[in-house]
Amino acid sequence: MRPLAHRDRLNRRPLLRENQARQEGRKMRIRVFEPRDEQAVVQLWTECGLVVPWNNPHRDIERKLKVQPEMFLVACSEPDNRIVGSVMAGYDGHRGWINYLAVLPEHRRKGIGTRLMNEGERCLRAAGCPKINLQVRSTNTSVLAFYEHLGFKSDDVASLGKRLEADE
Ligand SMILES: CC(C)(COP(=O)(O)OP(=O)(O)OC[C@H]1O[C@@H](n2cnc3c(N)ncnc32)[C@H](O)[C@@H]1OP(=O)(O)O)[C@@H](O)C(=O)NCCC(=O)NCCS
Repeated sequence: MRPLAHRDRLNRRPLLRENQARQEGRKMRIRVFEPRDEQAVVQLWTECGLVVPWNNPHRDIERKLKVQPEMFLVACSEPDNRIVGSVMAGYDGHRGWINYLAVLPEHRRKGIGTRLMNEGERCLRAAGCPKINLQVRSTNTSVLAFYEHLGFKSDDVASLGKRLEADE
């Protein structure tokens, strides 16, 4: 058996790194999206693999700014205002929805995704929303652990969609 001090050092190093990361994450400001953020947010979504050919991210932003824009949130560093994360929440009167949750790869595992989700949830609760739904692409199953960590459970449903407006 290794001496206790040595085992402590081995165990504590990752914990210190984790605490440091959490501290960095807490420094990020969560605020409502502003029009000046558009390019940075589209860049963020592109880097995070959320931009697909059938959704034009600029049109998605334009549409969101017309419906509950106060539920479109970004995480940014201070004082340089660099966008590092986003979440788009919305309440349709029956369910709350989460879209475009993203954190830049170099800022992940600092608690920023959790803070964005908590703030999105706070907005939805304030609007009277009883349940949050979200969809995960079948090619993106690695994100499931994150949502489970936040208390989300897989629903026994088939997800269907019908396009009303082509973005391509
Ligand atoms: C999903 C995402 C937003 C998470 O952001 P994040 O800031 O790294 O999340 P957090 O730091 O708040 O993670 C909280 C906890 O969730 C779990 N978690 C997060 N990412 C995980 C991963 N890749 N694998 C396993 N667990 C993970 C961990 O339990 C983590 O806590 P820990 O770091 O103390 O272990 C980020 O990975 C991302 O932008 N992914 C690409 C875009 C995407 O897929 N968005 C969702 C579309 S449905």
